[in-house]
Amino acid sequence: MENLTPGKISSAFKKALQAGLIRKEDSAVIFYDLTFLKERLSSLSSCFPAGTLHGLAVKACPLSKVMQLTKELGYGVEAASMGEVKLALQLGFDPGMIVYDSPVKTIEELEFALLAGIHLNLDNFSELERVKTLLKKLESKSTIGIRINPQIGEGSIKESSVAGEYSKFGVPLRFKKNELINAFLENDFLSGMHLHVGSQGCPLEMLVEGTGKLYDFMLEVNRLTSESKGYAQVTTFDIGGGLPVSYSKGRQPVPMEAYALALKKRAPLLFSERSLPVPGNPDPGPPLPASGSPLPAPGSPLHDHSIRLITEFGRWTYTNPGWTISRVEYVKHDPGVSTAMLHVGADLFVRECLNPKDWLHEYTLLDGEGNPRTGNSVNPWNLAGPLCFSGDILAKGVSLPGVQEGDHIVIHDTGGYTFSMWSRYNSRFAPRIIGYYNEGESFVVIKEREEIDDIIRFWT
Ligand SMILES: Cc1ncc(COP(=O)(O)O)c(C=O)c1O
Repeated sequence: MENLTPGKISSAFKKALQAGLIRKEDSAVIFYDLTFLKERLSSLSSCFPAGTLHGLAVKACPLSKVMQLTKELGYGVEAASMGEVKLALQLGFDPGMIVYDSPVKTIEELEFALLAGIHLNLDNFSELERVKTLLKKLESKSTIGIRINPQIGEGSIKESSVAGEYSKFGVPLRFKKNELINAFLENDFLSGMHLHVGSQGCPLEMLVEGTGKLYDFMLEVNRLTSESKGYAQVTTFDIGGGLPVSYSKGRQPVPMEAYALALKKRAPLLFSERSLPVPGNPDPGPPLPASGSPLPAPGSPLHDHSIRLITEFGRWTYTNPGWTISRVEYVKHDPGVSTAMLHVGADLFVRECLNPKDWLHEYTLLDGEGNPRTGNSVNPWNLAGPLCFSGDILAKGVSLPGVQEGDHIVIHDTGGYTFSMWSRYNSRFAPRIIGYYNEGESFVVIKEREEIDDIIRFWT
């Protein structure tokens, strides 16, 4: 699936202007191509078995209207905090479609999740003990897994790599293998394994290797529990998210299809067609649960093909369908460089401003009416934000046609991990967020631009 082109963005923006959706105060606006998002989602579903729970990472895009859309299409969520869990519940997500992953859950939060029947991925053995104690006093429909670090190395972005020798997340497989085996043998309620290798910067091979390592361990644990308890205890397998996207025209993204195929080759049981007889196994086992149905209960009958897969893709789902546009308020010329002063900077693009070598976008220049500008500028351009520190520069040395005041700069591929990381520093009004279908045939305001009351409420 191609990223959105400057031509498509210009056309949608012109339609939004004509529809009166860009008011004077909308000096910056975030857009989501919701048709594109829906296409992404259906391609995700087509790559994995029908019973897969796709827990889309809320942290990438917690916008209620977008989450509602994904819920209606049958997708679940991966929640990194109790705030995200409660947001999902408030929006009507079935608790069985919520995967709760925080590494610092309190006893109260664990109790809440267990009572609600949310799928829990535990981070460590202390948390496991807490859950064990809680389960002695309460009834729960939750399925429970544990996060395991496959220790296969780090990707190119250190800050978002979590499967190195050391990680603050999960239980390291090589260091704690025996303790992990004992945890499964001693706790019948522990029926899932979870990993996440990293977000962006991890190549396909690394992601597959991480899943492969954990898959082998799952087979070993299931063999041991089959011998001692008579059933395969691990019935859910959560591969996390992390498939990188392309932020630049020059770099080809890794297609989800290629990733799923490589996973299928390395970990075939995760992909077996569970509703069909498997060659060599005339008994097809229990039918595949319908998408959206609760996860299989721990201790379900011993069928190696009754494993339920969970995915947690955030960046891949949301990034490419979103783009941001800012009016150029001022233009400054210095020897060797010119600067376009924009209405978004480090408040919306925290990572880009603080760690520019790892986070680069494509930029397109549109004139005041939304038409692409062409031509060459003498100087390269710095794209500077409105905040009061010198590091508030979104990009340096960008090659653009001559920028004029009143033009618009489009920042491509901003649908994930941008607005969700919005910073309150300098108390700027968070921009209006607009969704559209069919290249701008229809629009929906996803979130209104903030008013002064929103800022006062935050600081009061
Ligand atoms: C546990 C977990 N799952 C899923 C994700 C989503 O990763 P991505 O957005 O790269 O798919 C993250 C991202 O940090 C994560 O920490």
